[in-house]
Amino acid sequence: KPRVFSGIQPSGGLTLGNYLGALKRFAMKQDEGIETIYCLVDLHAVTVWQDPEALRRQTREAAAAFIASGVDPQRSILFNQSQVGAHAELAWLLNCVARLGWMNRMTQFKDKAGKNAEKASLGLYAYPALMAADILLYHATMVPVGEDQKQHVELTRDIAAKFNHDFGVEFFPAPEPLIEGTATRVMSLRDGTKKMSKSDPSDASRINLTDDADTIAKKIRKATTDPAELPSEIDGLKDRPEARNLVNIYAALADMTPAQVLGEYGGKGFGTFKPALAELAVEKLAPISTEMGRLMADPAEIDAVLGQGANKADAIARPIVERTYEIMGMVRSR
Ligand code: TYM
Repeated sequence: KPRVFSGIQPSGGLTLGNYLGALKRFAMKQDEGIETIYCLVDLHAVTVWQDPEALRRQTREAAAAFIASGVDPQRSILFNQSQVGAHAELAWLLNCVARLGWMNRMTQFKDKAGKNAEKASLGLYAYPALMAADILLYHATMVPVGEDQKQHVELTRDIAAKFNHDFGVEFFPAPEPLIEGTATRVMSLRDGTKKMSKSDPSDASRINLTDDADTIAKKIRKATTDPAELPSEIDGLKDRPEARNLVNIYAALADMTPAQVLGEYGGKGFGTFKPALAELAVEKLAPISTEMGRLMADPAEIDAVLGQGANKADAIARPIVERTYEIMGMVRSR
């Protein structure tokens, strides 16, 4: 039975990259009528230092972003990871299945730990095994993510296969990464070779879901581009990462293909294209930020939604982690 699981770290404000690469597609999967489970992965967030007050606020804000993007807590399960203890439990068991050599190949750890990996937390290193636990805990079959998470979902498949092999069971299904659409890797507005990220020191490099209309328009107007006109064929974007990024963003926001966007704007300069993109971005994003603001006015209501989501998630996850303990030989007697 198809089941979707995905997660987002509440480790900062969410960006247009998170919206197009994840949130928007999460709502689409839900609307296809598939069972969908979405998680604010606060246990992942604390693999790097988080100010406790900021983490609480960002978790509620990320929950508001899900709801404002069309994830309906009545039709999807929406919860924060730390409220369902089975995530940490299965993560430990999978820590004992995953191999050091596999973890050493994870490029995100290398990026995040930087040059001085000795100073990184043990949690940051084990992060991908916790992510595997998130997915396998629900026997999820589909994992919608942006391109940067592909390696982690593939690792999850390896961990599932090794567990099944080691214990001679067919217990964990292999999940498929779903990396679809034209915005699976939204790039920085300042540098078309870098991913748009909530941790980039330059706020002008990204559009935050909390930015107001003026800020969104200004950031797009100021986005780094080359001086040439837009080409009329996709091939013409090959060596123009900034132009390609803006065309991809336009396509994703408008539910068009990049070829259709170039059909409309090919031969036109950024003097024409940027204002059009700014208008489209404001049209699509301003209602989300307004709705987030409305929801954030009542944090108790958001907490109630997360609590109910956690109960529903726990009802699926608890039997699966219990069965995992049994398979591994732990005595269960209560
Ligand atoms: P995170 O919090 O970094 O990002 C959340 C989602 O947003 C996508 N994304 C982007 N997509 C396109 N362009 C961008 N510039 C961009 N930036 C971020 C990410 O690919 C991701 O889909 N490890 C995960 C969270 C996680 C998870 C899971 C995901 C924990 N457990 C289980 C799926 C299943 C992460 O750090 O995502």
